[in-house]
Amino acid sequence: MFFHKFSLISNYLLPLVLFITLYVRSSEGSKAEYVTCGTILKLINPDLRLRLHSHDVKYGSGSGQQSVTGVDESDDHNSHWAVRAATGETCKRGAPIKCNTVVRLQHVATKKNLHSHYFTSPLSNNQEVSCYGDDNGEGDSGDNWTVVCNNDYWRRDTPVKLKHVDTATYLAGSGRTFGRPISGQGEIVGINSQYGAYTDWQAKEGLFVHPSDPLPHQHAIHSEL
Ligand SMILES: *[C@@H]1O[C@H](CO)[C@@H](O)[C@H](O)[C@H]1NC(C)=O
Repeated sequence: MFFHKFSLISNYLLPLVLFITLYVRSSEGSKAEYVTCGTILKLINPDLRLRLHSHDVKYGSGSGQQSVTGVDESDDHNSHWAVRAATGETCKRGAPIKCNTVVRLQHVATKKNLHSHYFTSPLSNNQEVSCYGDDNGEGDSGDNWTVVCNNDYWRRDTPVKLKHVDTATYLAGSGRTFGRPISGQGEIVGINSQYGAYTDWQAKEGLFVHPSDPLPHQHAIHSEL
């Protein structure tokens, strides 16, 4: 009888307790560690110290679409981007984004999506990066970007590359700076090699949506601004 009870505990209960402990630990950890579907974040280029930015200012050349730049201010609301599923797709709110997933980055203030296409960028003659889409945030395949990283998921503490699906270029700062009317802002471009300078993008200052969180209007977005 004693042996029977003992083996019940060691064979079933202990592993179960251990499993639950580990499971809870790892899901606690994941909450803080990953960029998830629905996350609103800023993306900083660590080498240039610029945040990816857009605003209601059109390019005076190239496509004439809404311009995308890099700014050094940390408190600019025009630097917030929402992580959404690729055009025409959905993702589960709060689900961590796996490496090599195709996503859209929607500029929160104007609802347009980070976009690129075969137009020449205004300062450095690289590929132009713009913001595109209708008032509901619906654009086209040029809004699809692959999150390139070497871990399992897009981690908040590790820079990723963003590869434009249609043209296979990488989101980058060019190191060039605009004059008026957006003087001091950095040019953002698409370049052919991920090993080029200024292709790293690090998640910052986000409203990170967690897997167990209800919808944001139920005041459950965990603010880490
Ligand atoms: C990208 O965008 C187009 C919509 O124009 C869509 O049909 C396609 O499936 C998207 N997804 C990927 C993974 O490229």
